[in-house]
Amino acid sequence: MLAVAILAAGKGTRMKSQLPKVLHPLGNKTLVERAIASCELIKPDRTAIIIGYEGEKIKQALNHLEKVEFVEQKEQLGTGHAIQQLLEPLKDFSGDLLVLNGDVPLLRPETVEKLVATHRENKNQATLLTANLSNPTGYGRVFCDSDNIVKQIIEHRDCSSAQKQNPRVNAGVYCFNWDALKEVLPKLSTNNDQQEYYLTEVVDFLNPVMALDVDDALEINGINDRRQLAAAYDILQARVKEAWMMAGVTMIDPDSITIEDTVTLSADVTLEPQTHLRGNTVIGAGSHIGPGSFVENSHIGEGVKIFYSTVIDSTIASDSKIGPYSHLRGQANIGENCRVGNFVEVKKSTVGNKTNVAHLSYIGDATLGSQVNVGAGTITANYDGVNKHPTIIGDRTKTGSNSVFVAPVTIGEDVTIGAGSVITHDVPDGALAIARQKQKNIDHWKSRSK
Ligand code: UD1
Ligand code: CA
Repeated sequence: MLAVAILAAGKGTRMKSQLPKVLHPLGNKTLVERAIASCELIKPDRTAIIIGYEGEKIKQALNHLEKVEFVEQKEQLGTGHAIQQLLEPLKDFSGDLLVLNGDVPLLRPETVEKLVATHRENKNQATLLTANLSNPTGYGRVFCDSDNIVKQIIEHRDCSSAQKQNPRVNAGVYCFNWDALKEVLPKLSTNNDQQEYYLTEVVDFLNPVMALDVDDALEINGINDRRQLAAAYDILQARVKEAWMMAGVTMIDPDSITIEDTVTLSADVTLEPQTHLRGNTVIGAGSHIGPGSFVENSHIGEGVKIFYSTVIDSTIASDSKIGPYSHLRGQANIGENCRVGNFVEVKKSTVGNKTNVAHLSYIGDATLGSQVNVGAGTITANYDGVNKHPTIIGDRTKTGSNSVFVAPVTIGEDVTIGAGSVITHDVPDGALAIARQKQKNIDHWKSRSK
């Protein structure tokens, strides 16, 4: 059996925030969600989150997760005290306990898996992750004999200046034999600079305790202040971008691009500067996104070009061209070979193949057929102040510049709409509709007014 405990009771004073530290977002997930996600390969039987400061907020933020239990640590008397709170809820549990700090968000699931495997293969009482850092300031130092057997862990502030020279640090990630740990937890003292119960003191009572170095020391970065939060974001981004570049994605000025780890790209996608891809976005082969584009929760086909535009919760089929300055949102579904251009907003609408909406339009709650040409400045007036209404425009119809469609209204196929028309009634297939005052010229106006 395997249980996971995540330490998340502290306030995180150095964040200088109303929000508990572990609820700060790092990309699309909070720190504590990332800590939980790093356990996805080991499939724990139980996951306990130790909460204290603003514990209700943490419960709420995690209520979408199943199989998570919360254990309250009323006073934060140290990491050892936090784990002592498990004695009651885990009194009938037998097996291994993996402990993670809730403020260590960059651990790879593979690393956690390797820690548990090493722990079990060696039948250790405790196994902990370590790294050798060029700047180990602030971390607890791990002192081992030659076989990675841990003799002692000393917090930075309790180290002598000679001990501070040791670059090997405690990551705050441990696998314990719970049956052994629960016997020694009551023995912890507060005999240290902070007068707290340190979890690291259990090393003095357990045997054997083994250290396992991480391959990539960046994984163990703890977040204590907002500089470290920003640095962690950079590390995460570098990982995601490196992986996509290796999979065949071209990035121009990658430092200016951000990609969430939920995004899926294809080979021969090109991303230009200042492009941001978020959520469950999928981009097909050969598409070219940017510069200056934002795409969230959207499905982009192959060979699509998006230039200085925003696309949210929408789909764009292959070979369409979007932008500059288009805004697609709320289920805008654009067909193949379409053009959505300058200052065009499309919301909750379907646009058929080879249809163009090239300039200055609002298309909302509309269904456009294929090969429609939407003239510059065409607007669907979809909202009567209370309800939204649909506009339907058939295949091959051409709307004149500055047409307004007062919805609900249905326009047939092969219709021509005169420029400047305000269309309030349905138009049958093949008709010409003009709905504006006839032009009247008054001759010699200038000479008359003299
Ligand atoms: C801890 C380790 C240190 C290690 C470092 C790695 C101890 C004594 N020290 O130090 O060896 O190098 O992590 O990042 O464990 N927390 C509680 N209840 C408490 C105290 C803390 O839940 O009473 C939680 C915090 O919210 C945080 C985590 O435990 O998520 C770590 O606490 P923190 O105070 O940040 O420990 P460090 O000083 O970083
Ligand atoms: Ca910390």
